[in-house]
Amino acid sequence: MKDWEWFDRDADSYEENLPVVEGLGRALADFAGLAPGLRLLDVGSGTGAVARPALTKGCRITAIDMAPNMLRKLQTDLPEITVRRMDVTRLGLPDGSFDVVLAGWVLDILDDPAAAVTEIHRVLAPGGTFAASVKCPLEQRWYWFRDMVDELGPREYTPRPPIDVPALLAEAGFGAVERRLVEHPRRFGDPEALWNRLMSALSASNRLPAERATEFRERFLAHARRMHADGDLVVHQDSELFRAKATTT
Ligand SMILES: C[S@@+](CC[C@H](N)C(=O)[O-])C[C@H]1O[C@@H](n2cnc3c(N)ncnc32)[C@H](O)[C@@H]1O
Repeated sequence: MKDWEWFDRDADSYEENLPVVEGLGRALADFAGLAPGLRLLDVGSGTGAVARPALTKGCRITAIDMAPNMLRKLQTDLPEITVRRMDVTRLGLPDGSFDVVLAGWVLDILDDPAAAVTEIHRVLAPGGTFAASVKCPLEQRWYWFRDMVDELGPREYTPRPPIDVPALLAEAGFGAVERRLVEHPRRFGDPEALWNRLMSALSASNRLPAERATEFRERFLAHARRMHADGDLVVHQDSELFRAKATTT
């Protein structure tokens, strides 16, 4: 199953389950330095966490994604933007046709992020800006959770290794890379609250098969109780923002 198909299943609840993306979309739009009239491409747009703040800055927006349900919701919410179903690694768009490309939480879920960054560079006008947000790696104290997903999660889901964004940008021909950390710590009052929140978010990308759900829940709560006893029931959904300009060559 492709990654976009996981998102497509949960398009209606995606932003509700992951409230962090709204603030992160605003942070990315601010970081990109948007101005009225700029031709902006939002790749892997989802339901518009990035496109919405970009629209308030007066940009002319094209949004692309592979998930039809994400795009349907986005077009209903923002009828004034252009929405197209397209693969970011094979953009059917002319060379140099955008001033800005934004990618919120997309590069690190792709099979071929290098192809995506090369395509993004191609469709940017010389000197145009690319800005992306990428999830920070999971903290070591949460590795038990990753291991449980590996062991009990859906077999067709393949976790991706971390990507080196500055190296990908340099390889595609971008200039100097600027970065900014966006922190999003979230403290939970008790293990049940964490379970309820995390499991609804997890369903968006890692839906659990019913036959393994009971064991998963019991083991999850045992780990979470230990963290709670240590006074440490905090989830950091931190992200890093990257920004670089397309070179002329
Ligand atoms: C984590 S969501 C991010 C959505 C949005 N940018 C945000 O910040 O909330 C990743 C999105 O990338 C889309 N996607 C996955 N693979 C893609 C591909 N090859 N081309 C275009 N979009 C893709 C998914 O369908 C999903 O909507």
